[in-house]
Amino acid sequence: MGGAKTDLKLIDENGLRLDGRSPNELRPIKIQTDVLDNADGSAMIEWGGNKIIASVYGPREAYPKHTQNMDMAVVKARYNMAAFSVDERKRPGPDRRSIEISKVVSEALQTAILAEQFPRTQIDVFIEVLQADAGTRIAGLTASAVALAAAGIPMRDMVAGCTAGKVAGQIVLDLGKEEDNFGEADLPIAQLVKSGKIVLMQMDGDLSVEEFNKATEMIDDAIKRISEIQREALAGKYRDIALEEGGE
Ligand code: CDP
Repeated sequence: MGGAKTDLKLIDENGLRLDGRSPNELRPIKIQTDVLDNADGSAMIEWGGNKIIASVYGPREAYPKHTQNMDMAVVKARYNMAAFSVDERKRPGPDRRSIEISKVVSEALQTAILAEQFPRTQIDVFIEVLQADAGTRIAGLTASAVALAAAGIPMRDMVAGCTAGKVAGQIVLDLGKEEDNFGEADLPIAQLVKSGKIVLMQMDGDLSVEEFNKATEMIDDAIKRISEIQREALAGKYRDIALEEGGE
């Protein structure tokens, strides 16, 4: 980020990006539920080159006890990047970046969950990044929301997100890794899908008000498309259950 120097031509003479996408085009996104037997709910998301598993455990009694909230469940998301998930081996364990991402994702999910139905409990969400290709916080959060729904945890609304940013002077949707590294701005946003309420927003780099408005419009529209993929993933889950129960 920050417009670092590169010889890469991030946008070509036809207005297309490094991977051939148009400015408003998402990378391919695939979500699969119930990928782990031992979780209460789980989802694997493949979003461009990102491969991320989100797993949910709970609600269960919050421990240690002083972390309990008498009025609601506490949502604890932990974002972790596998050492082999990036080009240059990542040192295992939490760093400042993963602590920050865990915090903002926890807060976003807490808003979506009907946490008041489960006082004194905690709901754990583990986000394991197996392969990283930019936009992992948003992809991880989007998968976590599906994993929570798959776990049967009541939610007031679905959460989905997307990034937009500025690359070679243009506003584009869903930054790829080179665009993230060498672009001028990166704006990840997550929303409650029905209400449109923003539950996560961070920004790296500079945008004018006009550029910011254009980026948020693109994100708003993309979130509708992404939430459809979430819905289909969950519908697949429930179709599988129905088939099992029907003995087919
Ligand atoms: O992943 P996200 O865009 O949410 O967060 P970021 O901090 O903007 O990181 C952008 C990308 O940089 C990540 O998705 C990884 O592909 C890469 N990265 C890396 O190669 N090594 C790290 N230690 C952290 C990030």
